[in-house]
Amino acid sequence: MEVKKILILFSLSFISAISNEIDENLKSFPADFEFGTSTASYQIEGAWNEGGKGWSMWDYVARARPEAIRDGSNADIACNSYHLYKRDIEMLKELGVDNYRLSIAWPRILPYGRPDYVNPEGIAYYNAVIDELLANGITPFVTMYHWDLPQNLNEQGGWITDEIVDWFGDYARVLYQHFGDRVKNWLTLNEPYVHCFFGYGRGSHAPLRTSPGVEFYECGRNILLANARAYHIYDEEFRAAQGGKVGLVISMEWVLPLTDSDDDVQGALDYAAYHIDHYMHPIFSEEGNFPQIVIDRVAEASANQGLNASRLRPFAQEQIDYMKGTADFLGLNHYSSKYVYRNSSVEGRYDVPSVEDDIHVVTYQPPSWPSHGFIYEYAPGLYNLLMYLKDQYNNPVVYITENGFSSDTGLVDDGRVQYMRNYMRSVVDAVADGANVKGYFAWSLMDNFEWSFGYTLRFGMYQVDMDDPDRTRTPRKSALVYKEILRSRVIDYSYDPDPYAALPDAAVAYYAPVMLNLIVLLFNLLM
Ligand code: BGC
Repeated sequence: MEVKKILILFSLSFISAISNEIDENLKSFPADFEFGTSTASYQIEGAWNEGGKGWSMWDYVARARPEAIRDGSNADIACNSYHLYKRDIEMLKELGVDNYRLSIAWPRILPYGRPDYVNPEGIAYYNAVIDELLANGITPFVTMYHWDLPQNLNEQGGWITDEIVDWFGDYARVLYQHFGDRVKNWLTLNEPYVHCFFGYGRGSHAPLRTSPGVEFYECGRNILLANARAYHIYDEEFRAAQGGKVGLVISMEWVLPLTDSDDDVQGALDYAAYHIDHYMHPIFSEEGNFPQIVIDRVAEASANQGLNASRLRPFAQEQIDYMKGTADFLGLNHYSSKYVYRNSSVEGRYDVPSVEDDIHVVTYQPPSWPSHGFIYEYAPGLYNLLMYLKDQYNNPVVYITENGFSSDTGLVDDGRVQYMRNYMRSVVDAVADGANVKGYFAWSLMDNFEWSFGYTLRFGMYQVDMDDPDRTRTPRKSALVYKEILRSRVIDYSYDPDPYAALPDAAVAYYAPVMLNLIVLLFNLLM
């Protein structure tokens, strides 16, 4: 407890430390540090009903409740990577990455979710992608589940039925059987908190359920058990022959107390327990189980609400033991940080029951943090988070599996460039201070379908023209900067490439209409 407190307070002093360092120009990565980029099947593949694929719950939402997606769009075509995967891999080559994190669409492999029918075209597609990556010297990191649950399983209860632990284990086995000879880095599931909060708590992601005080917790519980099941299946049936590694992806924000008052500091500890330890502790701690703060707070709130059992269903001891140690490495997704405070304004602020009411803090991101969309830049947060994980969880092997910034559609994405450099610098600093970070994956290789935001937010280092039937991909400034960092292993703040100059064709495409307009204007003036 005290250690955490000190760390959080330490982060406050780090703000000024890092701003004094801002002139420092060059930071270099260790020689064996690995770089990559990430994508996810539903966000890029398209071909929603091609190649024998079944419906995912997002396909269903896009049809039944299109208003849930800000621009009324869907991912029926998305980046069309089902057909354009070779171009994607060419881009990875252009960047010079070591690794590529992609995800497999469960309903493309098992159209109805269960292994009684395995779709040969789905297997063939991912075989082709994996083989093409390997032929280009790029190591695949494969996420088994990035939120596109087969709709058939969703209709049978999805993540809030206990049966999903068996369903997920059976699916994982199919993946090991077909791809495990070549895939040596598996990530079972992406971001339990975000998936459960937006999918089952706040109803803004598929399956659009709104039970923030009950189903949110059930979903997280089942995801932890499903991860453990997939891990044990690998251990028992495949590890000896295939020799790979199995991790999972957890998203975490760093948290700072707004003031050093006891209430705000305790609020920050509580927020960290939910947003960091909730999914870390059952897997990476020595004692296992949910963090005691979370168990106690939900139990107390449930009792106050007149319930005769906690809304956080307890694990049996054998489940606690079953989950402990079920990740060979941590995939860390990190985007931003938050200040929190706790005062009388929390009362009555949130639905009852809800996870927000259980945590009982107000969050705040200051306008001084550069922002776009919902991402706020605060790079010291990543350093502090990595040091926290090192100290609290016995320095696990970490791959940063997502980190990135949204931008407008243009090619000059200076906001992303700055964000990327500052966050990567935090990684270099954390590695220098002993954090066991082995690699970094930028989110994302290219613009894609950003869930409930549709195509209104662009996370790509490559711009994708979503109006062009060819879904043309063009490197932004950030792609050129990332490529140079990968080549030199140095973060050089003075490097300022021009994305138009780098692409003669794009320059023509960009400048030609401008020139044409000028000529028309001139002509009109003269006439
Ligand atoms: C998800 C990605 C998403 C990104 C940006 C992460 O939570 O894993 O799928 O695109 O955040 O919002």
